Amino acid sequence: MIRICFVCLGNICRSPMAEYMMKAKINELNLSDEFYIVSRATSYEEEGNGIYPPAKRKLESMNIPISFHKSICLEKKDYNLYDYFICMEERNISNALRIFGNDKEHKIFKLLDKDIADPWYTDDFDSTYNDLEKGLNKLIDSLTKKNND
Ligand code: 4NP
Repeated sequence: MIRICFVCLGNICRSPMAEYMMKAKINELNLSDEFYIVSRATSYEEEGNGIYPPAKRKLESMNIPISFHKSICLEKKDYNLYDYFICMEERNISNALRIFGNDKEHKIFKLLDKDIADPWYTDDFDSTYNDLEKGLNKLIDSLTKKNND
């Protein structure tokens, strides 16, 4: 079982989009039993709130299934619960390091080399979706290759 936690600032746009897109992809690959996928915030700003409606609409327009979501902030104890913390931008990494204290097991990564723009500010859900698509395909390639070695 590979346990993945997607991380962004508010956990209402990018990381839940990544979570549901990833779930749809691994479902298509018949790998759902081999993955456990969640998403978390690095701030309490949106704690308890649902996925941002335009983000939800974008996923629905791409036929990505969505389940009940509420924003939850990353906690120190989460470090041991997941194998990978996949961040959307550089400051998610510094915030995650602040919450965990360190990354001794090298679990923290960025989904793409570049930062994925926050559609909460840009209002550009298409570009964010396209970046997530690119990053998730790369992630799946690397994880399935690793598994088959
Ligand atoms: P996200 O976008 O990190 O992609 O979920 C944000 C949504 C809300 C806030 C920040 C980022 N906020 O501070 O309210």
